[in-house]
Amino acid sequence: MVLLTRMESELHARDRVGVEDFVLLEDYTDPNAFMDNLKKRSKENLIYTFIGQVLVSVNPYKNLDIYSNDMIETYRNVNLYELPPHIFAISDVSYRLMREECRDQCILISGESGSGKTEASKKILQFLAAASHHNPTVESVKDRLLLSNPVLEAFGNAKTNRNDNSSRFGKYMDIEFDYLGTPLGGHINNYLLEKSRVIHQNKGERNFHIFYQLINGADDETLGQLFLRRDPQSYYYLNQGDSDDIIGTDDAKQYSIVTNAFKAFDFKDNDEMNLLSIVASVLHLGNTGFYEENGEAVIAQLKTVSHICKLLKCKEDLLQEALTNRTIEARGESVSTPLTRDQAIYARDALAKAVYERLFTWLVNKLNESLESKGHRSRKTLMGLLDIYGFEIFTKNSFEQFCINYCNEKLQQLFIELTLKSEQEEYRREEIEWEPIEYFNNRIICDLIEERHKGIIALLDEECLRPGDASDDTFLEKLELNVGTHPHFCSHNTGDNKTKKIIERNQFRLSHYAGEVVYNISGFLDKNNDLLYRDLKRAMNSSGNPIIQKVFTQNEINSKKRPLTAGTQFKNSLSKLMDALLSKEPWYVRCIKPNDNKMPNQFDEQVVRHQVKYLGLIENLRVRRAGFAYRRTYDAFLHRYKSLCPQTWPHFNGTAKDGVRVLVNYLGYDLDQYRMGKTKLFIRFPRTLFDIEDAFQQKKHELVAIIQARVKGRQQRKRYLEMRQAVTVIASYWRRFLAIKLLARRRLAAHIIRTFIKGFITRNEPENDCNRAFVKNVRAEWLKRLSKQLPKSVLDKSWSNAPKCCLETSELLRKLHQRWLVRKYIKSISPERKRLMDEKVVAEELFRGKKISYPSSIRYMFKENRLSSELETLRRSIFETKHIRSDEKTIYCTQVVKFDRHGYKQRPRILLLTNSAIYLLNEKDMKPKHRLPYKSITEIVVSDLMDDLMIIKIPAELKQDKGDLILDCKQHIIEVVTKIIIMNKDNSKLNVVNTGSITHLSSDGKVGQISFSKGIENGIIKRKDGVLQVTSKSP
Ligand SMILES: Nc1ncnc2c1ncn2[C@@H]1O[C@H](COP(=O)(O)OP(=O)(O)O)[C@@H](O)[C@H]1O
Ligand SMILES: [Mg+2]
Repeated sequence: MVLLTRMESELHARDRVGVEDFVLLEDYTDPNAFMDNLKKRSKENLIYTFIGQVLVSVNPYKNLDIYSNDMIETYRNVNLYELPPHIFAISDVSYRLMREECRDQCILISGESGSGKTEASKKILQFLAAASHHNPTVESVKDRLLLSNPVLEAFGNAKTNRNDNSSRFGKYMDIEFDYLGTPLGGHINNYLLEKSRVIHQNKGERNFHIFYQLINGADDETLGQLFLRRDPQSYYYLNQGDSDDIIGTDDAKQYSIVTNAFKAFDFKDNDEMNLLSIVASVLHLGNTGFYEENGEAVIAQLKTVSHICKLLKCKEDLLQEALTNRTIEARGESVSTPLTRDQAIYARDALAKAVYERLFTWLVNKLNESLESKGHRSRKTLMGLLDIYGFEIFTKNSFEQFCINYCNEKLQQLFIELTLKSEQEEYRREEIEWEPIEYFNNRIICDLIEERHKGIIALLDEECLRPGDASDDTFLEKLELNVGTHPHFCSHNTGDNKTKKIIERNQFRLSHYAGEVVYNISGFLDKNNDLLYRDLKRAMNSSGNPIIQKVFTQNEINSKKRPLTAGTQFKNSLSKLMDALLSKEPWYVRCIKPNDNKMPNQFDEQVVRHQVKYLGLIENLRVRRAGFAYRRTYDAFLHRYKSLCPQTWPHFNGTAKDGVRVLVNYLGYDLDQYRMGKTKLFIRFPRTLFDIEDAFQQKKHELVAIIQARVKGRQQRKRYLEMRQAVTVIASYWRRFLAIKLLARRRLAAHIIRTFIKGFITRNEPENDCNRAFVKNVRAEWLKRLSKQLPKSVLDKSWSNAPKCCLETSELLRKLHQRWLVRKYIKSISPERKRLMDEKVVAEELFRGKKISYPSSIRYMFKENRLSSELETLRRSIFETKHIRSDEKTIYCTQVVKFDRHGYKQRPRILLLTNSAIYLLNEKDMKPKHRLPYKSITEIVVSDLMDDLMIIKIPAELKQDKGDLILDCKQHIIEVVTKIIIMNKDNSKLNVVNTGSITHLSSDGKVGQISFSKGIENGIIKRKDGVLQVTSKSP
C-alpha cells in the first residue's frame, strides 16, 4: 500500500497535466473533456493515456527519450497502473500474462496511416527482446525478429503524403515463446500489399523504398550487373511522384542495413542477387514503352526487354510475344490476338505488379522459414502483433481504400465483439445489473460489404465473372439495385439532392463507423479481377530465376479454374485473421496522429477529434466507466487472494463464492466497488484490484518467509538429526575406546594384584619369576621404612623389623649402622675425654665384680681435677710454681683425708698425681707433705665394700715415709685408684680384699689394723682398741 501511494504521488507530480486514465475524467461522456485531456497531455509530451486497458497513443513526430533500456527495466513486472501509461506497460502486462498464465496474447495496433502504429509495434518488439531471457541461441531469434522489420519495410513501406514510412501492407506477426517467456521464433502474415504503387505514385509520394535503396545504395558493379543507372528519375515507375528522397532518411545506408539483414535470414549466395534482379527487372519493365502500328502494340525499346530477360533468365522472344499478344482460349481452341498499345501497357503493368507482389510474398515466406521455431516440442504460447493500415479517407478513394476500410470495420467489429458486447453479455450471464450503453455496432456495415451473395464484394465478384460487357459502371448500377436502400450506402442516384451534389455519378458512398467515405468506382473491376494474361505467366514460368520460377508455377498456368478475385482473397484472409485474433487475449493500442503535416507540437483538433470519433474511444470509455474493470471466477480469485483473510487461509470450507464473500467483507469493500455474479466476482475500479494485488504481493513475502522458514527449519532439523546421529556414533566409538582402555587398565590392575598376591604367597621362596617383583618391592618398602626409622644414637638399640627376605641384609645393615653411629660418636669425642674413657675401661678391668661400689661409679665420668676453684688457684700459684719438679706434669688432683699411721688422726690433704709420682699437699699452703714415686708403690689395697678407703703400701726401706699411706678418697676411690694404677702401669699392684680386716705397716715397723664392716652409713672411726673401723653402707 505504501508503495502504491508513493508511486501514485510521484505519478501525480509527473502528470501535472490531465489524467493519465480517461476513466478518471470527471465528465467522461463529454467529448470536449476527452479532447482537452488529450491535447493537454500531448502538449507536455505525455503521448500515452489509458482508457482502462486500452492505450491511446498520440504520435509526437519527434524522438522522445522514453524508450531507453532503463525505461524498459522500470516498466518490467510492474502493475499496469503503477507507472504512467506507456507502450511498455501494455507490452509488459501482456507478456507477463502470456508467460505466467500461458494464455495467448495479441496486441492490436490501429489508427490512421502515420499515427505511429509501426513505431509502436517496433517498441513492443524492442521490449519483448529486452525483457525476455538472454542467451546466445535466443539472441539470434530476437535478432531475426528485429531484423525482419527493415527488410519488410524496404519492400512493403513507401513514402506517402501522410507518412514517410507508410506500411503499404498489413502485417500480423505471431511470436512464439516457450513457458519461460523465451522467444523461439515467429510467423508473419502479410495482407494486401498496395501493389498499384509499383506502377503509379501520386505527387509527392514514392514507390516502395527498396527501389531507391537499390539505386542509391548498391555498388557500381551490382548496378552494372542489373543494368541500372544511379538515377531514379530515369525510371518511369519511380518518377511519377516527383519525389526521390525522404528528408532524414539515407537510402544508401538503409540498403546496407537491408542487405546485411538478408544474411541473418539464411539467404543463399544467389538469393540476394536473384531478388535484386527481380527488383531491377520491375524498373526495366516500367521503362518498356510501346507504340502502336496498325492498332497493334509494338515494343519501343527492345533493350529493356532484353535486360529483363537477362535478369530473369527467360526467353526474350517469349516475353516480347507475351507483352504484345494475348492468347484467348475458346471452345478448345487457342487464338493469339495482338494487343493494342493500351492493352500492352495494362499487361506490362499487371506483370510488374504481379512480379513485385509475388516477390514480396516470397520474401515473407523466406523470413518465416528462417523465423520458424525448430525442434521445440514443448508448449508454445503466442504473442500476436497486428500492425495494419488504419482507416483511409483520400480525396480519391478506390478499391484499395475500400479494402483497407473494410479491414478496419472488421477490426472494430472485433473490438466491439471482445470488449463492448461480450462485456455486456457477460454481465447478463452473471446476472449483474447493467445500465445498457448505447454503442454503435458496425456489424451492419461489415454485412453490407462481406455478406455472401448480397454484400458488395459478392456483387463485385459477380460482375467480374459475368459474361458480357461488364464494366465499373454496370457494377455501380448493380450496387444501386441490390444495396441501394441500405442505410449505409448512398450513390448519386440513390441520394437526395443534397448528396447528389457531393457524390458524383461514378461514385458511391459508404457510411463507415468512422465516417463517410466516397469511393470512385473506376478500376474496381480490374483491380478485383487482378488479371494477368496467361502468356505472361507462361513467360515467367520459363524463367531461370528460381524465385520467379517458384512464384509462377506450372500448376497455375494449367489450372482451368479462375483464380479467386482480390476482394474475395482479402475477405478470406481477413476472416482467418479474425479467427486468429479471437482465440487470443486482446490488448489495444489506439494510435492517433495529431496533424496531417507530420509535424511535431501541432495538435490539430479537427484531425484528432475525427480519429477519436471513428476509433470509438468515447464509447470505449463509457463502457469502461459503466462496467467493471476486472472480473475473475470465484475459484481463481479465492485461490489467488485467500491468503489475505484468516478465515479463508489456508483453506476455506465452503463454496468458492462464499469464500470470496467472506474475503471481500474482510477486506472491507463496499458495494460500490464490486458485484458478485453467478460465477465471477466483478471489481469496478482498477485501483481496488491493484490494492488487493499489492496486498497480496506484500503477503507473498510473508508467505515466502514462512515457507522459507519451514524449509530452512526442515533443513536445519535434518542437519541436526544427522549431527545427532553422528554424535551418537562418535560417542559410542569414544565410549568403546574408553571401555577398551578401562578394560586394559583393569586387566593390568588384576594382573598386578595377582602378581602381588602370588608374590606375597611365594615371598619366602627363593627368588623366582613369581615373587621377584614382590620381593623387590618389599625390600624397597622396607628400606624406605628403615631409612625413616634408623636409630639416631649409639645407645638407641631399636631396629625396624625386617621381612624375612631381608633378614640378612637387616643384620648387616644394623651392624653397619651401629658401627657408623659409633664411629660418628667416637669422632665426636675429644682426646681428653677419650683418655678419661680409657681410664674408665681400666677401672672396669680393675674393679668389675671385685668392689661393690664400682657399679655405682660407672655413671660418673672421671675428672682430672676435683679441686674447688680457690684450691685450684692456690695450687697453681704455689705448687705449680714452687714445688713441682721440672720434669713433672700434674695429671690429677683431688681432696682426700689422710689418716696418720698412728693414731689415725685425720689430716685433710690434696692428693696430686704427676706423671711420675704421688704428692700429698697441705691443703692450706699447698706444700708437699709427701712425695711418692709410682715405682716405689708395692701394693694398693682396697676393700670390696662401699667404702673409700685406700691403703698404699710402700716398701719398708722407705720408712721415712712413716709407713703405708691410708687415704680416704671421699667417694672417688675408683677414680683415684685407677689413675694411680695407670700411672704405675701394673694392674697387679691392686689388691681388693674381702677379708674384713687388713693390716698395714706404720712407721717404725709397727703394724696397724683396719677392719671393714657393713653399716648404715659410710664412716671411719678409730676404735678404742686402736683398730681403724671402716663402715660401708650397703649398696
Ligand atoms: N512514438 C513515436 N515517437 C517518435 N516518432 C514517432 C512515434 N510514432 C510515430 N512516429 C513518427 O511518425 C512516423 C509514422 O509512424 P508510423 O508508425 O510509420 O505510422 P503508421 O504505421 O501508423 O502509418 C514515424 O516515421 C515517426 O517519424
Ligand atoms: Mg505503418
